[in-house]
Amino acid sequence: MTNVLGIHIGHDSSVALVRDGRIVADAAEERFTRIKHYCGLPIHALDYCLRSCDLSMADIDVVAIPTAASLPDLNFLLDLKGSRREPVSTRRFVLDTVRTILGRQQRRPPLYLKRFPLAERTEIVHVEHHLAHAASAYYTSGRREKQLIVTMDGAGDGYSVCIWRGENGKIMPLEKFPTSGSLGWFYSNVTEALGWWHGDGEGKTMGLAPYGDASKAKGVLEGFYPKFGDGRLVKPHRFLGASYWNEAGAIQWHFDDADEIRQLVERYGRESIAAEAQRILEEQTKEIIFPWMEKEKTANLSCAGGVFLNVKLNQRLWESGKIAHHHIYPNAGDSGLAAGAALYAYYQAHPDAPINKIEDLYWGPSYSDDEIERILRLRNLSYRRVENIEEFTARQLANGRIVGWFQGRMESGPRALGNRSILMSANRPENKDILNARVKFREAFRPFCPSLLWEYRGDYLERPRDEFFMITSFDCRPAKRSQVPAVVHVDGTVRPQTVKQDFNPRFWKLLCEFGRLTGEPLLLNTSFNLMGEPIVCHPREAIRCFCDCGLDLLVLSNFVLQKDGG
Ligand SMILES: [Fe+2]
Repeated sequence: MTNVLGIHIGHDSSVALVRDGRIVADAAEERFTRIKHYCGLPIHALDYCLRSCDLSMADIDVVAIPTAASLPDLNFLLDLKGSRREPVSTRRFVLDTVRTILGRQQRRPPLYLKRFPLAERTEIVHVEHHLAHAASAYYTSGRREKQLIVTMDGAGDGYSVCIWRGENGKIMPLEKFPTSGSLGWFYSNVTEALGWWHGDGEGKTMGLAPYGDASKAKGVLEGFYPKFGDGRLVKPHRFLGASYWNEAGAIQWHFDDADEIRQLVERYGRESIAAEAQRILEEQTKEIIFPWMEKEKTANLSCAGGVFLNVKLNQRLWESGKIAHHHIYPNAGDSGLAAGAALYAYYQAHPDAPINKIEDLYWGPSYSDDEIERILRLRNLSYRRVENIEEFTARQLANGRIVGWFQGRMESGPRALGNRSILMSANRPENKDILNARVKFREAFRPFCPSLLWEYRGDYLERPRDEFFMITSFDCRPAKRSQVPAVVHVDGTVRPQTVKQDFNPRFWKLLCEFGRLTGEPLLLNTSFNLMGEPIVCHPREAIRCFCDCGLDLLVLSNFVLQKDGG
């Protein structure tokens, strides 16, 4: 048995545990601290990963860190001594010295902060940022044979786009582009100019884009993004004036480009600028990926890095018809780095081990019925236990109720996949507005996603493929658009989770029951949180959310809380 612990400290701090090549626990620290994109030490996530597998630090064979840089924060998190200590950079040493001379405080942890002392036998390995992204894609693809791996994000360890070959259990670098090739930063700068958080609000830009006409802003973003041609960076872009703001434990970046783009937003309109940014992202990414697929003579593509959270980009790549096997690691942003680094370390030692295809992302905490009932009693809440919870909940949903659905292990990554979900019927167009007004309080233009039975994917999706994680959008079949209008975006697309019985039997049964009652085995599924908050993790957070918005029902395992008492 090999236990590898991946620890990512930074934007979206997270910890993952890989046992014999499989991810068995993975959680972002934000779910415990309740601060979205939390960037501090992942103490709770580390504690969770060990406890969930009944392990102590003495059982860990390797600790994998997804950065090539030294990470002095590990010195106190892992209580590193002597030659194992992470070196302090010259810059930080000088800054610390100056602060000491000036009598200022230095950043040091208090005694009561929990440490996880590293065992003597445990090895520490550093895995370069993009290599960790690449490993998260390749080693969860289920395929050993040759494939192109592409990683794209804002920046990590000095790179923004990296091209790799995955073959026979090994990952080889083919090309790396520096931060002057960052399409991620470009898209985030547009996002900031539109008034949203760089590193969080990019999904809003993507959701807004179909409302605009890119031709009305064609060319106006020239000079704000790098250009690629035939797989090469032909026109780098100098991103100037990069700075960051640490607000309540999470990094928020700012680039001077955003100031200038904001003036274009005022001139050409929000929708058209968003549409043009999306067009550029798609066009430039194709200029990177397709030439490299040709050079490598492969039709297999695996992707990771925050840029690939853009489901429309993924749709365009898939629709090209050039890809035979298309895999995107669903936790594509930096919260997936811990798992990627741990997978890489494992396969370095075991290159001949089978590469497993991930079937679900249920790697977070779960709570037993006894625990949930204790939590409910403590709060003096009236509740009842329902045996056939799927049939009961389906009836409530068919009657138009909005349900908080809390089951089993929490999902990793940014999407709710039926264990920490808010559910509603998608069969009436007004449900989207009702949900926004009563529960989610988010921008009206943003689409909601469907979860549907895998067996019926061909009824709803054009050119479907297995899509279990809401990481690619598809055109909705015209005949179905009016049947499930609350989850069809203005451009006729949907971003689905197809649900297989084996992967989530309870959620699958709920969809079956709902389909039996309404004729549509599909539900609107949005993450169980309020706008700006991380997805709920613990039952108490689900209860708070239930009380704090217009949810009609809360279903925690088999327990039901109902506001109207019905
Ligand atoms: Fe990254």
